[in-house]
Amino acid sequence: MECYLFFGFHLYGLHAADCIPHTISMDSSILLALLLALFIPIFLHLLTRFKNSSYNLPPGSLGFPFIGQSISFLRALRSNTDYQWFQGRIRKYGPVSKMWLFGSPAVLMAGPAANHFIFSNKDLLFTGTRSINVLTGRNILMLSGEELKQVRGALQNFLSPEMLIKCVSKIDEEVRRHVKVNWVGHKTVKVLPLAKRLTFDIICSVIFGQEAGSVREVLATDFQTMVKAALSIPVKIPFTRFSRGLSASQRIRKLLRGIARERETLLQQGHGASADDFFTYMLALRAGCAHSLTVEDIVDNAIFLLIAGYETTSVLITFMLWHLDKEPEVLGKITEEQDEIARNKGPEDALTWNDVSRMKYTWKVFTAQSVTHLDANIFPEPSNFDPARFENNSSIPPYCFVPFGGGPRMCPGNEFARTETLVTMHYLVTQFRWKMCCKEESYKKDPSPTPLLGLPIELEPRCLPENAHA
Ligand code: HEM
Repeated sequence: MECYLFFGFHLYGLHAADCIPHTISMDSSILLALLLALFIPIFLHLLTRFKNSSYNLPPGSLGFPFIGQSISFLRALRSNTDYQWFQGRIRKYGPVSKMWLFGSPAVLMAGPAANHFIFSNKDLLFTGTRSINVLTGRNILMLSGEELKQVRGALQNFLSPEMLIKCVSKIDEEVRRHVKVNWVGHKTVKVLPLAKRLTFDIICSVIFGQEAGSVREVLATDFQTMVKAALSIPVKIPFTRFSRGLSASQRIRKLLRGIARERETLLQQGHGASADDFFTYMLALRAGCAHSLTVEDIVDNAIFLLIAGYETTSVLITFMLWHLDKEPEVLGKITEEQDEIARNKGPEDALTWNDVSRMKYTWKVFTAQSVTHLDANIFPEPSNFDPARFENNSSIPPYCFVPFGGGPRMCPGNEFARTETLVTMHYLVTQFRWKMCCKEESYKKDPSPTPLLGLPIELEPRCLPENAHA
C-alpha cells in the first residue's frame, strides 16, 4: 500500500491552512507561550470548523485542535507501526480521509487508484506540513503554475543524464575519499551516520561546487537538526525540536544567502558563468531572465534539494547493507557483477557512466529494497526482501510500484540517486565483507527510517579481484 498525505485540503479548493498562523513568536515568557498555545488552537479550530462546514470534505476526524492526530502518528512512526496506523484509518474511514497533522489539515489517500489520480493530475498542488514549510521555505513543493514549470524545468536540466555523465567522476572521488578515511582500517563502523555524511558531502559538492569543502562542515550539524524538526508541532517554544530546527534553518539560510550574493556579484563581473554547480547554474539562468525566481527562492530550493538529495539515498544504502548481511546469495550475485567491472579498470581509474549502466542486477536489488508498498494483494508476502519479484516489471499492475513517484511531479533526482548509490556499493562490495554487530537491531521513522543503533557492523577487508582498482 502506498499512502499519500496532502496538507492543506488543496484538493477541495479549501485553503484551510491559510488560517493557521506561521510560528507563534513568544520569546518573552514561556507562560505566555503556553497560554497562547492553548487559546489560539481553540479559536482556530472554531474558525476552521465554521469555514469548512460548507465544503464537501472526505470523512475523518480532525482530532484535538491544532494537534489533531500528530501525537498518535508520531508514536506510530517511532514504533514503526505506521503501516498499521494507516490501515486503522482506512478501515474506519475508507481510502480517502481527512485529518490534522503537525499544524496543517491533511488528506490521506491510499491505493493504486489514488496513485493514478495523483500522478496524472498536473494541477495538484503538493505541500509539506506547516513545520516543513516554515523550516524549508518556499521550495518546489509549494509552487504551482508557471513558477513550478520554471523550477522543475531548471532542476530537470540540472539533474539530466548529460550533467550526470560529467558528475560521475565527482561522485567517485567523494566515495573513494570517504571509504579510505572512514572504512579502510576500521574493525567496526556505524553505517547510517557514515552514509548520511557521504551523501551530504556529495550533494553539497553538486550544489556548491568548488566551495563545498568549507560550506559542508558548517552545514552538516544544522541540517541534521533541521530534518529532525520536520515532523514536529510548529510552535516556537524554547528547547523544543521545532525551535531548535528553526534556529538551524535560519543559520543555514543566512549562510546560503551570503554565498548566493557572492556568486551573483561574480557573475555580474563576468566570472563563473561556466561553473556547473546548482547555485551558479540557477543564478546564471536568473541573470539571463530564463526564470523569475528571486535569490531567496533559489536559496529555498537549494535547501530542499540538499534534504531530498541526502536523506533518501543514505537510508537506501544503510538498509541495503542490512539486508545483504542476511542474503549471502544476493550479495554473491552483486559481487560478481561489481568484480567484473572492477577487473576492467586500472587502480586509479574512476567509474564512468558506462560502468554504472552495467550495474543492472545491483540496481534491481536496490529497487526491491526501497519498496514501501505493503499490499499483499499486489506483492505476496510484501515484507520479504525478494528482488526476484521485480525481474519481470510487466507483471506489476500500473500505479502499484512507485518508489520515485510518477507523472509530472516524479522525483527528478532518481538517476542521480541511482548513480551515487551504485558507485558507493561498488567500492563497499568489492573491498569489504560485513556482519551486523547487533542481530536484534530494529528501526523507527524519524522521519525517515532510522536503525535504532545506527547499524553498527564488523568489517573485514576483502581481497580485490586481480587488476581491480582500490
Ligand atoms: C532513493 C532515493 C530517492 C527516492 C526514493 C526519492 C523519492 C521521491 C519521491 C517519491 C518524490 C515525490 C514524487 C511524486 O510525488 O510523484 C520525490 C520528489 C523529489 N525528489 Fe526525490 N527521491 C530520491 C532521491 C532524490 C535525490 C538524490 C534528489 C536530488 C538530487 C531528489 C530530488 C527530488 C525533488 C527536487 C523532488 C520534488 C519534485 C517536485 O515536487 O516536482 N530526490 N522524490
